[in-house]
Amino acid sequence: MSNTLQKNLNYKKFIIDERLQYFKPHASKIEKTFAEEISFSLNRKGKFISPKFFYDKKGSDLFEKICTLPEYYPTRTEIMILNKLKDELPSFLDKTFRVVELGSGASVKTRIILDIFSKLCGDVEYFPIDISEILAESSEELLKDYENLHITGIIDTYEGGLEFLKNYDEKKNLILFLGSSFGNFPPKDGHEFLQKINSTMKKGDLFLIGLDLVKDKNILESAYDDSQGITSEFNLNVLSRINDELDADFNLNNFSHHSLYNETDQRIEMYLKSLVDQSVVISKSNLLLNLEKDELIHTEYSHKFRLSQIQKLLDDVGFEIKHTWLDDKSHFSLTLVSKI
Ligand code: TRP
Repeated sequence: MSNTLQKNLNYKKFIIDERLQYFKPHASKIEKTFAEEISFSLNRKGKFISPKFFYDKKGSDLFEKICTLPEYYPTRTEIMILNKLKDELPSFLDKTFRVVELGSGASVKTRIILDIFSKLCGDVEYFPIDISEILAESSEELLKDYENLHITGIIDTYEGGLEFLKNYDEKKNLILFLGSSFGNFPPKDGHEFLQKINSTMKKGDLFLIGLDLVKDKNILESAYDDSQGITSEFNLNVLSRINDELDADFNLNNFSHHSLYNETDQRIEMYLKSLVDQSVVISKSNLLLNLEKDELIHTEYSHKFRLSQIQKLLDDVGFEIKHTWLDDKSHFSLTLVSKI
């Protein structure tokens, strides 16, 4: 316990009322990390920007829009599966669980889980972990609709949030990791991340992971390059964020959204393409960035899985699979596991 207190000194605690508190790392910690990470990731041959930087306020709002696009099937499909789960999940739970969510965003899907918990427990405890400030806003919305809800939010990276949760108390956790966000990790990092989750869990804890499945290439490609151009706007927004927060001078007109499905590696790959030879100054990262015409900056992977691969992935980390749920078209999956 003293260990926990020690670690939590790195966080500033905001008590909003008796049902809502949240923790945020001290500002200097975040800012330094962003400038340093960008300085590293753009100052090399294969240039990239980590997708976690997509989610400033504007980026989070744009992502919410993506989730409602006709082409973007994952959110809709996962919600359908969650609705099916309503009758079946309670048999794996009891009153002593709380809900922890990685990357909670606007907490839309969370509501389905909270409905299940409200029926089961009466008082419900919810720990959203999200890199975006949207967490505070969506928490207040949730409190309006759930009278018996208590929220402790952690505005931090997944890793930071999991560290925070580790040894927090004896209460059982159901950890949610939805939206196939796991597919956004490069494969090796993904394995490490699952290990991190496993080591955060106590015996008796449960983990529910939503993963997108391999399917027709056209369906996949249009989900990440929609006709209204929202995905493009979302991708380019990370450059505006770097402009604002790191004193940079990216001209967004000199870049375009570029995405493709790589069948061999079973993933959507997203890039920002430089449309001209250009130089960009990123002051706070101490960087003069030179880009050639057609040069690509990688921003995101979105891996797609086969059911056998999901089993192996979870097995390899030492999870016990309790159940996998699918939609009627087998486009998306939800898998519940426990720690052995
Ligand atoms: N986890 C989401 C996914 O892989 C993230 C995502 C969806 C995304 N659409 C995007 C990220 C477009 C960047 C751009 O499906």
